[in-house]
Amino acid sequence: MKITNDIVYVGVNDKTIDLFEGHYSVPRGVAYNSYVIIDEKIAVMDTVDARFGSEWLENIAAALGGRKPDYLIVQHVEPDHSSNIALFLKTYPDAKVVCNAKAAEMIKNFFGVDVSGGVTVQNGGILPLGRHTLNFIFAPMVHWPEVMMTYDATDKVLFSADAFGKFGALDENEPWDDEARRYYIGIVGKYGAQVQAVLKKAAALEIETICPLHGPVLTGDLSHYLDLYNTWSSYSVESDGVVIAYTSVYGNTKKAALVAAEKLRETGAEVKTYDLARSDMAAVVAEAFRYGKLVLATTTYNADIFPYMREFIACIVERGFRNRTVALIENGSWAPMAAKVMKEKLAACKDLAIVEPTVSIKSGVKPENEAQIDALVAELTK
Ligand code: FEO
Repeated sequence: MKITNDIVYVGVNDKTIDLFEGHYSVPRGVAYNSYVIIDEKIAVMDTVDARFGSEWLENIAAALGGRKPDYLIVQHVEPDHSSNIALFLKTYPDAKVVCNAKAAEMIKNFFGVDVSGGVTVQNGGILPLGRHTLNFIFAPMVHWPEVMMTYDATDKVLFSADAFGKFGALDENEPWDDEARRYYIGIVGKYGAQVQAVLKKAAALEIETICPLHGPVLTGDLSHYLDLYNTWSSYSVESDGVVIAYTSVYGNTKKAALVAAEKLRETGAEVKTYDLARSDMAAVVAEAFRYGKLVLATTTYNADIFPYMREFIACIVERGFRNRTVALIENGSWAPMAAKVMKEKLAACKDLAIVEPTVSIKSGVKPENEAQIDALVAELTK
C-alpha cells in the first residue's frame, strides 16, 4: 500500500488478539502500522508486535525491492511497536536505530538491546534522507514518556505514533469515530493536557496525511479527526445526550434506570443505557466522555457499591472525567448508601455538577421513587 510516492505501508493486521494491552476487547482485531520512507537513505518507521516479525520483514523486503534500510526510527517503545528491534538489527546489521535517550533506555530495559551505536535525537531534531528531511516532535505521555512524532515536510505527512489510532484491523473498514474514541479515552484519556500541547505544535504544520501506529492512514479533510482530538483532549462535550450506566442485582435498579431513560426520551433527549455487568467497560467509559450528562444507578453492596459500578467510576475518575452533569440513583434494602459512596468517589473530578435530588430506592421501585425520577429528569433537562 503506497501512502505517497516514497512512503509505503509495511504494517500488519492482528486478527488473533483477544485483549489489546491485556485489557481492551478488540473483536475486529487491531493493526500495528509501520511505514518505509524510500529516499537516498531509507527509513523504517517503527516495528510491529512480536508475533508478526516475519510478516513485517517480508513486507519491508517487498517494498524495498532489494535495497536495504539505513534507519529504524522508534517513535514509541511500547512492545506492540518495538518488539522486533533485535530481529530487524539481525536482518539489517548495518542499519541504525534512531530514537531519543528515554526510548534507548526503555529499549534496553524491555529487550536488552543496546542502541547506543545509533542516532539519538532531540526534540526538534532532524534526520535528512535526501528529498525528505524528518523532523522529530517529542510528544511525552501521548502515550508514554518517550513518545515522539515525526513530520515529513516534503510529503506533508505526520507520523503521529499512537495518536489518531483506533482499534480494528485495517481490512475491517469500519467507521473511525467510535473505535478511535474508545481507543483514545481508554489509552490516552488521562493525558488531555499533553495531547493539547501536541495539537498546538501540529497546528503549525502543513499536514495532508496522518500515519498513526494503529488504524487507517488519514487523508483528505483532516479537520474531522483534529476537531475530535481537540474535543476529547479538552474534555469537552462531543454530543448532547444522556448516558445511563447501571448495575442491578434483582432488576429493580435496572427498572429505575429504564424508567428514567423513558422519561428523558419523552423530553426529546438522546439517551443510551448500559448494564455495566453486561457491557464492554471501555465502550461505556468512552460514552461517558462523549456525552454531556451521566446517570449512575447502582446498589449498596458490602457497605460500598456494586463492583461493576466501582470499576466504572474508577475508570472515569482516573481518566480525568470532568465538565459534566451527573445524576445518581441508589438502591439499598436496609441502609441505602450508594449515592453517598458515589459522590465521595466522584469528588476527585473537576467541574462536575451533581444533580439533586438523588433517587433513593429501598428494594423495589415505588410511586415516591417515580416522583423522584421525575424531579431528576426535570433537573437534568432544565
Ligand atoms: Fe500502540 Fe502505546 O502503543
